[in-house]
Amino acid sequence: MAKLRQNAVIAGVRASAAGARVGAGGRRPYICGGAGYEGVRDRRRPAAGRPPHRTFDAGSEAFVAHIARRVGTFPGYPLAQIPRRKRELVAAGVDVIDVGAGDPEEAPPAVAVEALTAALHDPAMSKYGFQLGLPAFREAVVRYHRRRFGTAFDPMTEVLPLIGSKEGLAHFALATTDPGDVVVVPEPGYQCYIGGAIASGGQARIAPLRPETDFLVELGELPREVLRRISLVYLNYPNNPTAAVAPRDYLERTVAVCREYGIALAYDNPYVEITFDGYRAPSIFEIEGAREVAVEFHSCSKTFTMTGWRLGWAVGNRELIAALTTIKSYHDTGPFLAVQQAAVAVLDQAETVAREAVRRFEARREVAVKALAAAGFEVAPPQATLYLWVPLPEGLKSAEFARLAMEEEGVIVMPGSGFGASGEGFFRVALTVGEERLAEAAERMGRVLARA
Ligand SMILES: Cc1ncc(COP(=O)(O)O)c(C=O)c1O
Repeated sequence: MAKLRQNAVIAGVRASAAGARVGAGGRRPYICGGAGYEGVRDRRRPAAGRPPHRTFDAGSEAFVAHIARRVGTFPGYPLAQIPRRKRELVAAGVDVIDVGAGDPEEAPPAVAVEALTAALHDPAMSKYGFQLGLPAFREAVVRYHRRRFGTAFDPMTEVLPLIGSKEGLAHFALATTDPGDVVVVPEPGYQCYIGGAIASGGQARIAPLRPETDFLVELGELPREVLRRISLVYLNYPNNPTAAVAPRDYLERTVAVCREYGIALAYDNPYVEITFDGYRAPSIFEIEGAREVAVEFHSCSKTFTMTGWRLGWAVGNRELIAALTTIKSYHDTGPFLAVQQAAVAVLDQAETVAREAVRRFEARREVAVKALAAAGFEVAPPQATLYLWVPLPEGLKSAEFARLAMEEEGVIVMPGSGFGASGEGFFRVALTVGEERLAEAAERMGRVLARA
């Protein structure tokens, strides 16, 4: 059995307080860290005994508190500005169609609402959950994995409730990565991967996801000296934002590399239920040996329309789960117990609830793909997820397209570059609104394209 490498043995890798990001060998090296310090300026003389430092420009000369350098090393969060601008547009009377965030417009399933309502009347559900959470939720997770993927887990040591999978994914870097270790971050990708890498002091190695390579990250192509320094790889298939899926043989060779080099594998799987045309997405634990290196992250958000409820779970290698539990014990006190109780009811009906959601997304996919084609965009229907990853014509920058779509046509989409530089040339449509609205959004975007 491949033993997880102890991070401490990595020699010759210097910790970088600024979270320097090393570039991909020969691909697109760049640094994210101390270098990217725009918007920050020297503010005051260092207090006696303190090292010189800088603070953010908080818009007030009176602001003198210390802000950690690391804050300036995070790339801008793609969704950060959109809600404010959307509010302004709506207030101005614009008929906004928001297909930006992956947040379906439907209500949560009735079974979830009923179970939550009942749980709220039980005072025990209003107590701290801690990392243990609700044992019944852990057990429901285990039942779900057994039914869906034929895998067995110990509910107490191989499962961990999360306050949404996002925090678990980001915290996982703290559990696996020492300063200077290399973290493989797919790009375009969900932003908490790079967030976790930076927070841990790791060096993010960007793995560009491109159509030419089926949006896959081929670990085996990395030089051995890099592989030896990797502490963690994030993978997400079915993928956000590209909607790519991973063939089984790809997963097999990826797990094999992780085992050989003792790399922790964070398999981010929130879209596992949202698949079409007979395609069935696997759990990473269907792959032999994955249990030695992997933790899989699941979410109640998309399939069960519970984005704001903040509930997910991690499942997998028990040492990694224990390490994540330790980190989280010092950062949070676990998800709301009443929400965990509601999720027990949802998970026990997961297949039924998911079937309904898939039917909805599938119908939207059909309409949106056709409407986008009629509007001058070319996009193939994806086999999974609630996203369309739409190519733009050469020379039209995705941020500019998204800006024009929002400002001139009231359509909110995510520019590909918002998921990292490798996402340039695409924009993402989330199938979060009804068919008519999707068709309308496509038509409006067609007008933007025609003018661009
Ligand atoms: C790939 C991916 N992972 C994780 C998440 C986070 O989901 P949650 O709501 O469980 O934090 C998202 C949400 O958009 C996502 O797209």
